[in-house]
Amino acid sequence: MKATALAHPNIALVKYWGKRDDALILPHQSSLSLTLAPLSVTTTVEFGAGSEQVEINGHHAKGSERERVLRVLEAVRAETGGKLGPARMVSRGDFPAAAGLASSAAGFAALAVAARAAAGLPEDPKAASLLSRLGSGSACRSVQGGFCEWLRGERPDGTDSYAVQRFDAGHWPELRMVVAILNRDEKEVKSRDGMKHTVETSPYYAAWVKDAEAEVPRAVELIQRKDLQALGELAERNAWRMHSTALAANPPLCYLHANTLELIEHLREQRKKGMPVWFTLDAGPNPVLLTDAAHEVVAEALALACGAADVVRCVPGGDAVLKSEHLF
Ligand code: DP6
Repeated sequence: MKATALAHPNIALVKYWGKRDDALILPHQSSLSLTLAPLSVTTTVEFGAGSEQVEINGHHAKGSERERVLRVLEAVRAETGGKLGPARMVSRGDFPAAAGLASSAAGFAALAVAARAAAGLPEDPKAASLLSRLGSGSACRSVQGGFCEWLRGERPDGTDSYAVQRFDAGHWPELRMVVAILNRDEKEVKSRDGMKHTVETSPYYAAWVKDAEAEVPRAVELIQRKDLQALGELAERNAWRMHSTALAANPPLCYLHANTLELIEHLREQRKKGMPVWFTLDAGPNPVLLTDAAHEVVAEALALACGAADVVRCVPGGDAVLKSEHLF
């Protein structure tokens, strides 16, 4: 009745931006990401507690954070015939304070894997991906390591909308991601609200969906060939297009800061000098630099020289795994 799992966050190279079903968290388009080590979240779940208890990083979760966890636990109960009692969940991330990367993807992936195991359900990446998606869309890409594609799916019930692993972490071990922390403030508009606003008001939204869907198979092919330059270019244009559709919303949604643009400009100059470094950017001001092991240190120095308060170096990460040591 008790199990613990560890999962890594992921960074999308082709982003997910917009839901066709807000309740089931079904995207308008497929997306593709890289799972990132060494950052991780560990979660322990035990069914049969006196009441539902949700503790995240030492705090009792409240509001929508708690609701999202309870929703995942409820889905596990439903799958097992509703016989499981209330659950206690304790989750802890090893992310440096405001790593600039959301820990929710890793958190819900670890929760899904731990909750299924605690309920006595067999290990099943597809089932865990479907389950974690109910907590946060991008979480479905953190159940497995390496490069994962979240299939958009067609069915209204969402049973065909989950992530599959295209390549494992060992496929391209020299690939590096350097998160440049330019700004630590909590973002004003969360991804969930920002994408909803974009879907509802951006005249560019339909073009974004069509383009992003077509970029996924191209990205898969470039990863297969380990073509860093072409993949870097694809990741950059996809990030620009996601931000463009948000900028075209009404009122406009701008996640970029002045120093985000400065760093991007600097990367462009460095590339002209032959440095293999590209960026991607989620719904926030902190770019993630894409490079290889030989240029990781230079990329880090570049981010610091552009005013980054901190950097987090990441390598391709592995699957979410069950652990024998519990958090309580
Ligand atoms: C910009 O997965 O956090 O990081 O499904 O509403 O929980 P919800 O949103 P979330 O959005 C992630 C958006 C993104 C792009 C991506 O990771 O693909």
